[in-house]
Amino acid sequence: MLIKEKINEIRKDFKYLEDDPEYIYFDNAATTQKPIQVLEDTVAYYEHQNGNPHRGAHKFAFSATEVYENGRKKVADFINANSANEIIFLRNATEALNLIAYSYALNNLKKGDEILISIMEHHSNLVTWQFVANKTGAKLNYLYLDDDMQITDQEFDSKINKNTKILAITAASNVVGTMPNVKAFIEKAKNVSKDIITVVDAAQYVPHHKVDVKDLNCDFLAFSGHKMLSSMGIGVLYGKEELLNTMDPFLYGGDMIEYVREDESTFLNSPQRFEAGTTNVGGVASLVSAINYIDKIGIEEIYNIESELCKYAYEKIKKLDYIDVYTTSNSHRSPVIAFNVKEAHPHDVASILDNYKIAVRSGHHCAQPLHRYLGVNASCRASFAFYNTFEEIDSFIEHLEDVRRILRIGSK
Ligand code: ALA
Repeated sequence: MLIKEKINEIRKDFKYLEDDPEYIYFDNAATTQKPIQVLEDTVAYYEHQNGNPHRGAHKFAFSATEVYENGRKKVADFINANSANEIIFLRNATEALNLIAYSYALNNLKKGDEILISIMEHHSNLVTWQFVANKTGAKLNYLYLDDDMQITDQEFDSKINKNTKILAITAASNVVGTMPNVKAFIEKAKNVSKDIITVVDAAQYVPHHKVDVKDLNCDFLAFSGHKMLSSMGIGVLYGKEELLNTMDPFLYGGDMIEYVREDESTFLNSPQRFEAGTTNVGGVASLVSAINYIDKIGIEEIYNIESELCKYAYEKIKKLDYIDVYTTSNSHRSPVIAFNVKEAHPHDVASILDNYKIAVRSGHHCAQPLHRYLGVNASCRASFAFYNTFEEIDSFIEHLEDVRRILRIGSK
């Protein structure tokens, strides 16, 4: 099937297009729209299987436990983890990264140690490590980008050393689109010292690309469900089982303990150790359905469609001399275009585009240090998904000229 026909087939699954077929949703990096199959499966869970998992000896407690634990297996297979025990369900990637900070880093880092991150990290993988550095006395080091928004080997080699205790890096930038060679960086890090703990923020990567944690050989990997078609409030932390079982719990409470006495308690192993309280079973049902949907289309097909859309948009927008583009030219990138209309405030640009029924994000996209590094306060961002079309991109590009006209930029 031709790519355009394929997209048109896929679009039938998205209800937001029924409400207003003309509205162009280019804020997929913030959150994706949800296909009807995922919505129906989520409702079906609440209609027929809802209960509190791991508690109770009745049909609904059992069905919720089954949905939840089968979901764990599903996610383990999806990212090729060794075992379902390596999958912890949390609210989102931010919570997953914080869990590593609180349960691993605060207990293991000290003055003289170093944490290595990149300048293109989302605040969730940046502020978190600032916090750890401030609490432990460890030093926070940054990998900077070349002119095409890439981290060179030279840059990496000059920043990693025997004092590095944590390498925490995004697999795909939410602003400049860069997909660094995370596997090679992890290998380099482990060659410097086997003790370096490697953390991958895959929130912007998992929706577009196959992830294989065994192949990556990372210690931790985090992602969010809502950026990959499922409902909000469900996220995943992958961690190597041996490592997880040496770590303190993150939250304390029900369903994570072995024995509780008046003055002390012992804790279950991973994953229960890190899942205190009633968990988001409906979210897991939704995430499982999203994975099924992705599998049905095929993650390679998704990557292919999104790459073509992004390439099409990139080539068009680069031709406009009144636009500054920040996205990498490397076609292996996440499908985002960060840009500014020269002399226009990004919020004005986004508001005017919304009047033309085009949703883009504006602001710093939770990446202030990156924007400062790029020499701007903020930007606009169009981010694509496999249910967007080439015609939508044409419309977006055409209306950029209207933005200038309305703001009277370039007119005498
Ligand atoms: N992290 C999300 C984004 O990049 C919210 O828009």
